[in-house]
Amino acid sequence: CGGGEDAAPGGAGQDGVRLGFSQVGTESAWRLANTRSIEHAATNAGVRLDLRIADGKQENQAAAIREFISADVDVIAFSPVVETGWDTLLQEARDAGIPVIVTDRMVDTTDTSLFVTMLGSDFTAEGRKAGEWLVEHYRDRHGRVRIVEIEGTAGSAPANQRRAGFAEAIKADRDLQVIGSGDGDFTRAQGEQVMAGFLAAHTGIDAVFAHNDDEGLGAVEAIEAAGKRPGTDIKIITVDASRDGLAALAEGRLNYVVECNPLLGSQLMELVGKVTTGQTVPRRVVVDETAFDREAAKAVLHNRQY
Ligand code: AHR
Repeated sequence: CGGGEDAAPGGAGQDGVRLGFSQVGTESAWRLANTRSIEHAATNAGVRLDLRIADGKQENQAAAIREFISADVDVIAFSPVVETGWDTLLQEARDAGIPVIVTDRMVDTTDTSLFVTMLGSDFTAEGRKAGEWLVEHYRDRHGRVRIVEIEGTAGSAPANQRRAGFAEAIKADRDLQVIGSGDGDFTRAQGEQVMAGFLAAHTGIDAVFAHNDDEGLGAVEAIEAAGKRPGTDIKIITVDASRDGLAALAEGRLNYVVECNPLLGSQLMELVGKVTTGQTVPRRVVVDETAFDREAAKAVLHNRQY
């Protein structure tokens, strides 16, 4: 599974290649680990990395990508803040003859040949795993289960796809009902605020599905501030499996954590090497991932990389 650091492959033709990479921002522990992994793998592979952080703004990513095009880099890679609105930009890169690799979050384009490959997680499967845990957990309970959902950044692929996978899974039990949802923007502060709003608006919340660990840990704080016990009075399921998320799971303050692996650096450098040497690459590279309950979290926590 995805807990181990990526070893730099080397020897795949990346040495000296100029890669422009536009990163989403610094919103979560996952994101910081993803950036570190890419920087580390670029150094190991001899790739000349031009890294730009977009602070969660699509217009910043567009500006960075246009600068990469002007600089005539060998490859552009980016993790899109939101899914839509990329066609013109991708066409500009194609017109300039620069291949584009999409990482982490998918783009929604009219022409998928505008990028060479997509490397990242299956977010729908992650949402489904979260929903399946709830179905199983409440199997013997009769009566309504009130769920609130703290979603990721509005319009982003992980928010859209995790919501869809989760909804699909909980359909298996009609008692499982989402009574509220809000945008937690993948941050701890926003997760706390959204959860505080849910607690003020609803009584008898049974469970929270937070689209990442940071939001879930923010929800823990809001639940404690409301005098309830997170993980006991209100069940919490999150995605990422960061060190902080797994520690809270081991302590019983979270109940289930679905893994999303940020350590994509070496796989990205390998793709960069192949793309620049004319080798074929798969259209989609899916990252191998698992999920953790309390015991599983305790077993891996000591050597978690992010
Ligand atoms: O795109 C991956 C998501 O973005 C991670 O789940 C989240 O933590 C991050 O900010």
